[in-house]
Amino acid sequence: MKVLIVGGGGREHAIAWKVAKSPKVEKLYCAPGNAGIAEVAECVNIGVMEFDKLTAFARENQIDLTIIGPDDPLAAGAVDAFEAAGLRVFGPRKNAAILEASKAFSKDLMKKYGIPTAAYETFTSPEAALAYLETAKMPIVLKADGLALGKGVLICKDLEEAKEGVKTLMLDKQFGSAGDEIVIEEFMTGREVSVLSFVDGKTIKIMTSAQDHKRAKDGDQGLNTGGMGTFSPSPFYTADVDAFCKEHIYQKTVDAMRAEGREFKGIIFFGLMLTADGPKVLEYNARFGDPETQVVLPRMKNDIVDLFEACIDGTLDQVNLQFEDNAAVCVVLASDGYPEHYEKGFPIHGLEHFKDADGYYVFHAGSKFDADGQIVTNGGRVLGVTATGKTLKEARTNAYKATEFITFDNKYMRHDIGKAIDEA
Ligand code: AMP
Ligand code: GLY
Repeated sequence: MKVLIVGGGGREHAIAWKVAKSPKVEKLYCAPGNAGIAEVAECVNIGVMEFDKLTAFARENQIDLTIIGPDDPLAAGAVDAFEAAGLRVFGPRKNAAILEASKAFSKDLMKKYGIPTAAYETFTSPEAALAYLETAKMPIVLKADGLALGKGVLICKDLEEAKEGVKTLMLDKQFGSAGDEIVIEEFMTGREVSVLSFVDGKTIKIMTSAQDHKRAKDGDQGLNTGGMGTFSPSPFYTADVDAFCKEHIYQKTVDAMRAEGREFKGIIFFGLMLTADGPKVLEYNARFGDPETQVVLPRMKNDIVDLFEACIDGTLDQVNLQFEDNAAVCVVLASDGYPEHYEKGFPIHGLEHFKDADGYYVFHAGSKFDADGQIVTNGGRVLGVTATGKTLKEARTNAYKATEFITFDNKYMRHDIGKAIDEA
């Protein structure tokens, strides 16, 4: 079969790498892709929001299956556009992608169906939000309703910061219309765990757990980023936590979406916080996590195309989803200065050292070919260096060893990815 992947980051490289392993796939395309994805797929120069061009390409090239990677096209109805063109596509429709695209929607859904999450209120008027803050308990969390590249969440330690936050989101519109409505919610403490799942509208199959590192600097200091590294599994995701989430969170979410007339087919990413009162949902994403995917898919035993097909066909209950009994760690190599100001265009050396057979993987997040055909840096996050091992500690040692294979000017990484493993 012929497969098209839409997207061009580390997540899509990991998906493409996994799809390319399927014996069913004879030709793989990726739009727009990147220099790493080009090793396993033919890259097509079409942007992720150019639905007319994407569907025309899929029709002309008789694509049998399209997988939409990022949140923006899903929220804008990419799946609906493919379906309207009579094409087979993996991902939630627009009316289901709202699970991620509107935090007010997802919070109201959780409240209505009794899914554990932080207490909250929603506001469309800055005056009402400011009045509410006067009597609220601090610290407190403000969230822009809409998609804001993971940056629309403000943790405010006191009333002054919270008032400033309302101004940033609702009056200065730092995240545009994403801040037309905001959620103000209780500040929770605990460990965070990411759990990805396949969903076919009715059945949900949970993948192995992972943990992200969102801050730019060691010791969880610095600004929030798209993610500086991950490990999988999370040793804090115990059998008890799993049992609780299976009873109170996972299936309930799928059933709630169906009951609302918003049947969800695709990936649900549960951002969980393990609080003293039990696991609670921090957020939902309607897609694979980045860089969680870079540690989860190298551990997956199944042919991923079977999972995509089962989700589309509603036959997920018949699939036995399995993961290796090992561990993986991903360390992101970024451009110094990310997530603020950084330079691009530096040659990347050492990519030839990575061979699947050794348990080392390099997933490209921001790379491209320059005019001479040399692979150069092309983003804040450049590469996700992943290694597997029998244990988390072994995987971590291997991943940091593999970061040394790579050199480029302004290379920056955190040195404490997976430090939490030592506390388990
Ligand atoms: P979100 O995009 O909603 O996952 O939020 C981004 C990050 O903000 C999360 O990964 C948490 O680290 C933090 N966060 C979000 N909501 C809360 C909360 N209610 N209490 C404490 N931290 C939070
Ligand atoms: N790693 C978090 C996310 O993909 O949103």
